Amino acid sequence: MVSRVIPVDPFDLVIFGGTGDLARRKILPGLYRRFLAGQMPDDARIIGAARGEMDDEGFRALVADAVSEFIAEGKRDGETLARFLGHVHYVAVDAKGEAGWTDLARIVRKDVVQAFYFSVAPALFGDLAERLHRHGIAGPEARIVVEKPFGRDLESAKALNATLAEHFSEGQIYRIDHYLGKETVQNLMAVRFANILFEPLWNARHVDHVQITVAETVGVGGRGAYYDRSGAMRDMVQNHLMQLLCLIAMEPPYRFDPDAVRDEKLKVIRALQEVRPDDIVRGQYRGGPKAGGAPSYVEDAEDPASRTESYIAMKVQIANWRWKGTPFYLRTGKKLRARASEIAVVFKEVPHSIFGEEEGWRENVLSIRLQPNEGMTLSVMIKEPGPGGMRLTEVPLDMSFAEALGEDGTDIPDAYERLIMDVIRGNQTLFMRGDEVEAAWAWTDPIIAGWEARGDRPKGYDPGSSGPEDALMLVHRDGRRWREIRE
Ligand code: BG6
Repeated sequence: MVSRVIPVDPFDLVIFGGTGDLARRKILPGLYRRFLAGQMPDDARIIGAARGEMDDEGFRALVADAVSEFIAEGKRDGETLARFLGHVHYVAVDAKGEAGWTDLARIVRKDVVQAFYFSVAPALFGDLAERLHRHGIAGPEARIVVEKPFGRDLESAKALNATLAEHFSEGQIYRIDHYLGKETVQNLMAVRFANILFEPLWNARHVDHVQITVAETVGVGGRGAYYDRSGAMRDMVQNHLMQLLCLIAMEPPYRFDPDAVRDEKLKVIRALQEVRPDDIVRGQYRGGPKAGGAPSYVEDAEDPASRTESYIAMKVQIANWRWKGTPFYLRTGKKLRARASEIAVVFKEVPHSIFGEEEGWRENVLSIRLQPNEGMTLSVMIKEPGPGGMRLTEVPLDMSFAEALGEDGTDIPDAYERLIMDVIRGNQTLFMRGDEVEAAWAWTDPIIAGWEARGDRPKGYDPGSSGPEDALMLVHRDGRRWREIRE
C-alpha cells in the first residue's frame, strides 16, 4: 500500500536555532524526507535563523551534511539534494538583540503560510515572540512551534504560556510532543475509534491493568547537565508517557478535531489521582565493572550527590467511571536492557473458566509496540494442535505495520516530519494545548515535591537490566508481573 501524499500550501518555515542539534538531527532531515515524498510545494522555503554569521551557501552545506548523516544513502543523490537545497536560505538573527531582524522581515513572505520554529532554549521564547511582532514579521495567521521542556513545573509553564499569549493566540501555538507524531501513537486513536471491537471491552470491567513502558538503552552522557535538572519524571513522564496514557484512557471525542480530542485528554489528566509514595520507584544506573567500565549516572551528571532519577516506575490510578480500579503502571528509564516502547492492555480473566491453570490459560493482551518494529499484537488462546486432550496455547494475532502497509520500516515517516507538516496544514490535533500542559504539571509537581521533602534517594540498577529490583515489587505485590523488555 503506497501512502498518499497530500500536498501542502506554499510556506515559509523559519527555524530559530537552525544550526542546532535538533535542527540537524530531526527537523532538516525530516523536511528532506517530505521533499522526497513530493509533499513540498515548489515555492516552499526553509529559512535557517541563528546567531552565527553565515550566507545561504554556508547553511546549505550544513543542511547537506545533516542529510548525508541522517538519510539512507540510496535516498540522497546529488541532483535531488541540490533541488532540496534550492529551498533553503539563512538569515543571521540575534534573538536577544536587534541584529538581523530587518533582514528577516524583508525575506519572510506575508502571502504564504508562515511558521516559526523555536528550536531554542525556552528562555528565548519571549524575546523571539516579541521581536516577530515588533518587526511586523508574523502575520495574524502565523504559527509558532515550541519544543519541550515546556516549563519545569506548573509555575514556569504558566509563565511561558503567558509570555507567548502576549503575542500569539492559542490557535497559533504548536507545542510539540514528538511522541504524538509517532505512527503507532496515532494508530492508537484509529484502533480505538474506528473499530467496534475494542470499545465494549475498554474499561475497568474488562481491563485488568495497563502497562506503559518506554525503555531506552542510551544513558544521559553528553546531556548530563540538562538531564540532571529534570530527571525521568520531568523528561519523559510529564509529557510523553502522559500523552500515551491519555490516548489509551480518554473518552471518544465527539469528532476528530483538535479541541475535541484535546478536551478529552485534558479530562483524563484532571482525573489522575495523587500517587502514593510507595507506588513510585525511582532508580539511577550504576557504572563500574558490571557496566563494562562505563560511567554511572552520577558520573554522567557530574554530580556525585545527585538524586535525580534516570528510571522511574509508578502505579497511577484514574478516578472516573471508566477506569476506577484499573491501575496504569508506567515505567521509563535509560540504559535498560533494550530500546523498546510498548503499551500493553492486559484483559481480565474470563468470568468463569471451564479450563484450569493446568491447561495453560493466560489472559488476553493487546500490545501496541511504539518502537522498534511498530505494530500491534493481540494474544488469544487457542487449543494446542494435535491429539492428547485439551491443552491451551497462546497465539499472537500479529500486525506489523511495516508488513501490513507493504513498506520497509524506513518509509514510515518520522514523528517530526509528520508534525511539521501538520503545522503547515494548521492542524493542532497532535499538539499540546496550554491547559493540557499546565494540568500535567499540576499533577507532576506534588509528586516531585513529595520525594524531595522525604529526601528519597533513587535505587541503583545495573545497565542492561530491567531497572531496580524494587520496581518488580510494584507490580508483584498486586499479583501481576511486568512484561519483558525486549526488542
Ligand atoms: C526526549 C527526551 O524528549 O525523548 C530524551 O528528552 C529521550 O531523554 C527521547 O531520549 C526519546 O525519544 P525517542 O523518540 O527516541 O523515543
